[in-house]
Amino acid sequence: MTDLGPSLIASPTELRAASQRVADEISRDHPLGVTLVGVLKGSILFLADVARRLSVPVEIELVAVAPFDGVAGRTRVVKDVDRSVADRTVVLLMGLMDTGFTADFLVRHLEASAPNSVHTAVLANKNARRILPISADYLAFEVPDRFVVGWGLDHRGRYRNVNGLWAVDGALLANDPDRYVDDLYGPRHTADPPR
Ligand code: IMP
Ligand code: MG
Repeated sequence: MTDLGPSLIASPTELRAASQRVADEISRDHPLGVTLVGVLKGSILFLADVARRLSVPVEIELVAVAPFDGVAGRTRVVKDVDRSVADRTVVLLMGLMDTGFTADFLVRHLEASAPNSVHTAVLANKNARRILPISADYLAFEVPDRFVVGWGLDHRGRYRNVNGLWAVDGALLANDPDRYVDDLYGPRHTADPPR
């Protein structure tokens, strides 16, 4: 199998523009303010980008789940919000929506606390493998059915700080997790001109 190498989905400039657009949409729809609930760890850069661009008051909460896994069974919350979202206007921010299990599970989990509303904001949406009928209310990028890393998104903990959103070969990564280190951290793949 030929490895075509990483392909750029979104440069830092495009990522900043998309988070501005998402922030504008959220601000427009929620003039009284929002509680952003970031899903650890993939959403952290997107959360920071969106939060600082919102023009309405913001509170930030963080949650973490044990990933859905057909063998181990169900998704579960391993870190919950610190302050209840009861009566809050919630936007759940995720780095990536794939099958939809994580988003569906977390929306239900938050709704159990009787918030005013729960909407979802997603950095990267992969529609190809969606199983549950859930979609992002606010979306930065639709991505191809490949493995996506960078800008907070990882593969087994690697590549989260890669500058830009990149599509790579997931099957090759599974056998060789460091396969793209040289490509994605080398000068050849600087996504924007030098700062
Ligand atoms: P879902 O529950 O299937 O929608 O998947 C959501 C989670 O799957 C994300 O939080 C990611 O951890 C992981 N995931 C699925 N595809 C990718 C990918 O291409 N890159 C990085 N993480 C992924
Ligand atoms: Mg991950």
